[in-house]
Amino acid sequence: MLIESVITSFHTAFGYSAQPLMVRSPGRINIIGEHTDYNEGFVLPAAIDKCIYMAIDKSPGNIISLFSVAYQQKYQVSIDDLQPTGTWASYILGVADQLLKRGYPLQGFNLLVDGDIPAGAGLSSSAAVECAAVFALNELFGLGIAKMEMVKIAQEAEQCFAGVMCGIMDQFASIFGRKDQVIKLDCHTLAHEYIPLKMEGYKMVLLNTNVQHSLSSSAYNTRREQCAEGVALVKKQYPAVNSLRDVTIRMLDKLVAPLHPLIYKRCQYVVGENIRLLKACEELKQGKLKSLGKEMFLTHEGLSRDYEVSCKELDFLVEAAKNIPGVLGARMMGAGFGGCTINLVQDGAIDRLVNELASQYKKKFGIALDSYTVSIENGTSVLEQ
Ligand code: GLA
Repeated sequence: MLIESVITSFHTAFGYSAQPLMVRSPGRINIIGEHTDYNEGFVLPAAIDKCIYMAIDKSPGNIISLFSVAYQQKYQVSIDDLQPTGTWASYILGVADQLLKRGYPLQGFNLLVDGDIPAGAGLSSSAAVECAAVFALNELFGLGIAKMEMVKIAQEAEQCFAGVMCGIMDQFASIFGRKDQVIKLDCHTLAHEYIPLKMEGYKMVLLNTNVQHSLSSSAYNTRREQCAEGVALVKKQYPAVNSLRDVTIRMLDKLVAPLHPLIYKRCQYVVGENIRLLKACEELKQGKLKSLGKEMFLTHEGLSRDYEVSCKELDFLVEAAKNIPGVLGARMMGAGFGGCTINLVQDGAIDRLVNELASQYKKKFGIALDSYTVSIENGTSVLEQ
């Protein structure tokens, strides 16, 4: 089992056999509400059964020693000299850096990271690493940090050490996830509600394009800036407006469309997506899965045509899914430019969806398709051994 192999890897990597503290932190899906979090809108994520596992132990002195099982690489640095590395280590060092900046005392430690979240698939493996690290360091050094602060520390680690100006969704879902429930999170107030994912006879299936186009993080930051530009244009007339959350389509039609068609396209997608999400939540609560599926298709259209964060591989998979009977909805998920689509599929149609799309995808792009039928699990926790 993975936990035992993580402990064994820890002993081998660091050359001693004490029992480390173990933490698991999950990846996430998002049912609907994409690129809305940094616009103070709503999201609907859930933590999944794919996790990062971390083993950690104190070490004498002030040296941080890290080992990644996936990369079979060790990285060592003094606590007084934390810098982004441009590698997997940044996600952990970024968390240590945030803790120090907030005045939490740290000493040296040995930390091993392993897991089964495919990297670059849009399942937030980086957020899961950050959340595992903050949770593990809090536990190891008895720092007494509340979960909400952990979420913010993990998010700022990503922004400062990975350079992606991400919103709060991924880290929030990883820490606050709850079994069989999705989280309706208001990214303006951080108020949240758990909604049971009742899907008798249906499942959420992820199809991994196995591509991650390199422009993704710079394009992500550009989208964020474009949304801020839209807000600034509206604010000239409506000084009370602080984010796209406060903006209506009418305001955009009047104040942004005539001046800046591109900014208009971006902003009207976000405003529309918030409206769609609120509808989708009601549909989910009432078990209206067909309507929910339709919202998912509409979200994809907006992300592809107006927000322009899709790619040909994702568009192909969403279009192809429409031809499979029993598929109620499909869309790209996460930041975009690769990664997974999320599909709402009748149990009996899953095999056909996966098999037919895998062969069509292979034929068209020469790439193997991976698929995961996910279950919804609890958020970050210490693993009892
Ligand atoms: C990435 C970011 C999130 C969110 C999504 C898009 O996963 O980390 O904050 O913005 O993209 O919805």
